Amino acid sequence: MTRLDKNKKISHLVFGYGQMAKFIKEYLDGVFVSHADITKEDQIEEEIVKFNPDVVINTAAITSLEECEQNKTKAFETNTLGAYKVWQVCKKHGIFLCHFSSGCIFSSNTPDEIYSENSIPNPKSYYSWTKVWAENLLGKSPNLLVVRPRQVISSKVDVRNTLAKWAVYSHFISDQNSTSVVEDFMPVLKDMIDRRISGTFHLANPGTISPLEVSYLLKEKVNPKMKIYPTTLSEINKNLIAKRVTTVLSVEALRAVGYILPPIRESIVKVIEEFKVNLEQSGGFESLNPLRVMTKEKFSLSGKRISKYVNTN
Ligand SMILES: NC(=O)c1ccc[n+]([C@@H]2O[C@H](COP(=O)([O-])OP(=O)(O)OC[C@H]3O[C@@H](n4cnc5c(N)ncnc54)[C@H](OP(=O)(O)O)[C@@H]3O)[C@@H](O)[C@H]2O)c1
Repeated sequence: MTRLDKNKKISHLVFGYGQMAKFIKEYLDGVFVSHADITKEDQIEEEIVKFNPDVVINTAAITSLEECEQNKTKAFETNTLGAYKVWQVCKKHGIFLCHFSSGCIFSSNTPDEIYSENSIPNPKSYYSWTKVWAENLLGKSPNLLVVRPRQVISSKVDVRNTLAKWAVYSHFISDQNSTSVVEDFMPVLKDMIDRRISGTFHLANPGTISPLEVSYLLKEKVNPKMKIYPTTLSEINKNLIAKRVTTVLSVEALRAVGYILPPIRESIVKVIEEFKVNLEQSGGFESLNPLRVMTKEKFSLSGKRISKYVNTN
């Protein structure tokens, strides 16, 4: 099996320079994070010719569900056509591509409605559609790995971290969801790329947990003053312009190629404890203020000026 040339300076070229790109830099060797615009094929080509990487990892996307809903053309040009352009240039140069899709292309009505990699997607937001269309355009190839994380959490204090978002929310749904812990899946992703595993995989921890259950753990371990109000998905969706989903994913395909992430109910405790340490080191709850502002803005887009969803304690 082909291995990466460890002596090569840049072996992994990453498009997109957000949360996931930072983790890839931390966990993989020889990484360069490009700021090229993936809607411009000439910029992709220029970077690939310049760095001659063994692997390209595409994390670039418009990831705000609200922004995708409000600017559908930009979302389509980036998340769908941009992803396709990256793949076209990789194909031309015979380079292996790891593309980040999303588990949220599925919506489960009950915890027993479990979706496998071969299930037919049932997207509920424009963002999710753009991810489905990208997967359809990319197709299948021995040189293509598509990963679908779902509800990504980590111990990092980062506005893109769903755990940090939950730390400023006040209303939580009790629906069981699949969840992806970055610290658990990054070593697996590294190995999959090293082994050049192709195909589509749900990159999630086994088992499910609800945001409400996570909020109780956050209250117990991070913020005893946190006020928690149980709510429902349909209630939350009434106040957002982009519909959220509950998603339960099968991780059998990952298991079949040799990887079992820790069960989410074990991992969540560790992640929350590490998040607490990182939060203290980054200045405490005040460092989450940008998230409070972002959350208020997100809910105000529905025109209802709802601030009750933000925890001020
Ligand atoms: N984080 C999650 O919860 C999650 C869950 C499932 C799937 N995913 C997928 O995983 C991937 C990485 O997510 P992430 O958490 O790293 O998101 P992120 O922090 O929002 O990073 C996405 C990056 O793409 C950049 N970008 C936007 N348009 C671009 C363009 N035309 N050309 C190049 N870069 C562009 C963004 O830049 P700007 O900030 O300047 O726009 C941002 O740096 C995405 O494909 C996302 O859909 C994420």
